[in-house]
Amino acid sequence: MGSTVTPAETSRLFKPIKLGNHELQHRVSLAALTRYRNDDDHVPLDMMRQYYADRASAPGTLIVSEASAISEAEAGEPNNASMATPAQAAAWKEIIKGVHAKGSVFFQQLYAMGSSAKPEYIGPRGFEYRDASAVKIPGRDVAPREMTVAEIEQTIDDFVAAAKRAVFDAGADGVEIHAAHGYLLDHFLTPSLNQRTDEWGGSTAKSCRLTLEVVRRVAEAVGIEKVAVRLSPFATYQGGGKGSGLASRKIYGYLITELRKQTAGKLAYLSLVEAAGDPMAIVLGGDYDPTLSLDFALEAWDNASPVVVAGAYTPESALVAADNVYARWDVLVAFGRRFLANPDLVYRVGHGVPLNKYDRTTFYIPKAPQGYNDYPFSQEYLQSIGSK
Ligand code: PHB
Repeated sequence: MGSTVTPAETSRLFKPIKLGNHELQHRVSLAALTRYRNDDDHVPLDMMRQYYADRASAPGTLIVSEASAISEAEAGEPNNASMATPAQAAAWKEIIKGVHAKGSVFFQQLYAMGSSAKPEYIGPRGFEYRDASAVKIPGRDVAPREMTVAEIEQTIDDFVAAAKRAVFDAGADGVEIHAAHGYLLDHFLTPSLNQRTDEWGGSTAKSCRLTLEVVRRVAEAVGIEKVAVRLSPFATYQGGGKGSGLASRKIYGYLITELRKQTAGKLAYLSLVEAAGDPMAIVLGGDYDPTLSLDFALEAWDNASPVVVAGAYTPESALVAADNVYARWDVLVAFGRRFLANPDLVYRVGHGVPLNKYDRTTFYIPKAPQGYNDYPFSQEYLQSIGSK
């Protein structure tokens, strides 16, 4: 592959791009990454300020927060992030200030966990285990209860309230609606898990309605240019498999076309996870089908606004993505594991500096400093800013 890689200096990966109301300086972004460094009330710990500010250190970087729950009921596991209370918003405000101080752009990823919550965690806290239909997902012992229509409407209201909290109280530049990876919105999109026969299931259009409605209502509340959406057409994580590539193309072809019409080129960005980015492969070490391509999705979106792609990228494959694979489209490339292990990832990709290796054993240790702010900046980066 080496000879086909465009050097970073001339690559589209390092060309500025407009995103929402912002001008990014390059097209490398921080993917949303669950790290469990929030306290037991789901309030960010102080160490998160440095973590996000360090990764924002190249000015004009798109920073996407870890998935953050829209309500206390949907914060379905210990120490994950949340945007449901004033205390949570106040702590995020300090994190976001740090990102802005570096000249970077911050989107808060918002999710409802649905049946991907842990029943044994939410039960004792007084919340019910619910999802589109009463169908058990892999890794859980019990089936959720089917949500009532009133609960679906409440969920939409909770997305709106969380988005307002993120943008107006915490100062986020926008919100990314997480409709991927086997969380609640994705479960509504998944035929095997959404067996409803009302207005929220039973056909492709009805199954897509909740995601489209959340986007519409959140956009009304905070402005469409502050809204993004994340979809994972091929992911099978947490029961989200759509059955076949053909089924995925039908569902996401419809959803993306409707999103394009509904948002008229004004959505801040569309975030698409490739087959290689399925957490089933990345987090759980399972298989994925490398022949599945996002081309149909990019065609349907037709450059309506930038697209963030994710899928186990390395510095080299990201350059190939920007200049070759996705040359027809305005893409950014999101990095997860390699960005958590390299606070100066943008500089390293741009200057060919070797990467720190990530240590998976410390990814998910609740509240732990180890594996969090202890990955070093490169000497090359420190010299470039005159600090060594
Ligand atoms: C996870 O916590 O494993 C996780 C969270 C959000 C995702 C994917 C995985 O989108």
